[in-house]
Amino acid sequence: HQVPLEMHKVRMVQKLSLLPVEERLKKIQEAGNNTFLLQNKDIFMDMLTDSGVNGMSDLQFGAMMQADDAYAGSESFTRVKAAIKEVFGTENVLPAHQGRACENILAEAYVKPGMVTLMNFHFTTTKAHITRVGGVVEEIVDAKGLIPQTDDPFKGDFDLDKLRSRIDELGPDKVAFVRVEAGTNLIGGQPVSLSNMIAVTDICHEKGVKSVLDASLLQDNIYFMKMREARCKYMEIKDIYHLLADHFDIIYFSARKLSFSKGGIITSKDPKFTKEMMEYVPLYEGFLTYGGMDVRTMEALAQGLYESLDMEYINQGPEFIKYLTKELSDYGVPVILPAGGLGCHLDCQAFVPNMPHNQYPAGAVSAALYIIGGIRPMERGTLSEQREPDGTERYAELELARLAVPRRVFTLSQLKYVADRVKWLWDNRELIGGLEWVEEPKVLRFFFGRLKEI
Ligand code: F0G
Repeated sequence: HQVPLEMHKVRMVQKLSLLPVEERLKKIQEAGNNTFLLQNKDIFMDMLTDSGVNGMSDLQFGAMMQADDAYAGSESFTRVKAAIKEVFGTENVLPAHQGRACENILAEAYVKPGMVTLMNFHFTTTKAHITRVGGVVEEIVDAKGLIPQTDDPFKGDFDLDKLRSRIDELGPDKVAFVRVEAGTNLIGGQPVSLSNMIAVTDICHEKGVKSVLDASLLQDNIYFMKMREARCKYMEIKDIYHLLADHFDIIYFSARKLSFSKGGIITSKDPKFTKEMMEYVPLYEGFLTYGGMDVRTMEALAQGLYESLDMEYINQGPEFIKYLTKELSDYGVPVILPAGGLGCHLDCQAFVPNMPHNQYPAGAVSAALYIIGGIRPMERGTLSEQREPDGTERYAELELARLAVPRRVFTLSQLKYVADRVKWLWDNRELIGGLEWVEEPKVLRFFFGRLKEI
């Protein structure tokens, strides 16, 4: 089938090692069967995330050399602002150290106890910040988003009728904001259509509710808009960004994803919003011209934003993911379809159908992938959920093991290796056993919790 092409050449490399299987078994047991707790040196294919580990360009490294060190008024921040103006067309910019720091500021500024935030789907850190200040998260993703295999091009779309009626039922004053997550992470990196995003903001304006775009995964999402949505085919990438910035009140993103650097940004067309959030930046992050980012990070961020206007740059994630997904799906391995952004997602309820939900199928498949291939996936299922306030387990709608494909990092032969190992595991899936907690942290438990084999 169609083979993706690397539109770059590799000029700096990092050595990898592939430990023998007996040692891998020992390492995953020492890590409490949690792939977050493995050491990178023990991993062959690190597919935990695309966050902060994408391949940076020569121009990004070059830009880092001209960084302007200053506590206040750094030229590096001026260059970030210029890049945001070019890409989003907005002039009001707040810096933060990464995406979840933007979420902390949003939660502090706008979420009061008992208020509800409506979103297509939650993200782990978003929900943790909102619930920490007493807010509630409600998900309004269209029902098609939760069906593992469909041919729907935009599974991240909102159910617009439900959004309308939920705002009416709650009353606009009770809704802190509506958040659209581009490239919906936890349901398999599934995009939202441009039409659906605009329709959400129209509903928000009509009802008098704030609209927020989490643009962390917007780069992949825009690729899918260009490929799958008729109205976007002939639009310039920049025109899509500008249109979104015209419609949303607030946009924020993790630059670990959107610009292939580090850091985070909040921006808005109307200065009213950045003014309302501004005081939290020096309080939690740092002065208004760095917000926790070092100057070299800001230079890489600015350059990465310009580069994200290039189709031959933003196609590098989705096209390699599509290749891996098709390899697996053609073999019969249950994967989320259609292929989305961020990574290839194994549907673990179908991978190990007999494993009870309370034995954490996605966590079990993830640990098994490390043992059989030195591959590090990320659990995106029930372990990544948080318990209900009364302590009962909240079972995830989708039990996913995510094989993230950081852009411009792996070669096609490495992806073929991954496909081969996953197929082997699929053929031998009866070997996979369930997990139970040994140490369960209260907040964001998936990051550092420990489990053992049952
Ligand atoms: N929003 C989305 C949609 C994300 O995917 C992430 C991070 C964040 C916010 C938080 O940003 O990590 O810079 O604080 N996602 C990473 C992942 C961690 O691997 O899925 P951050």
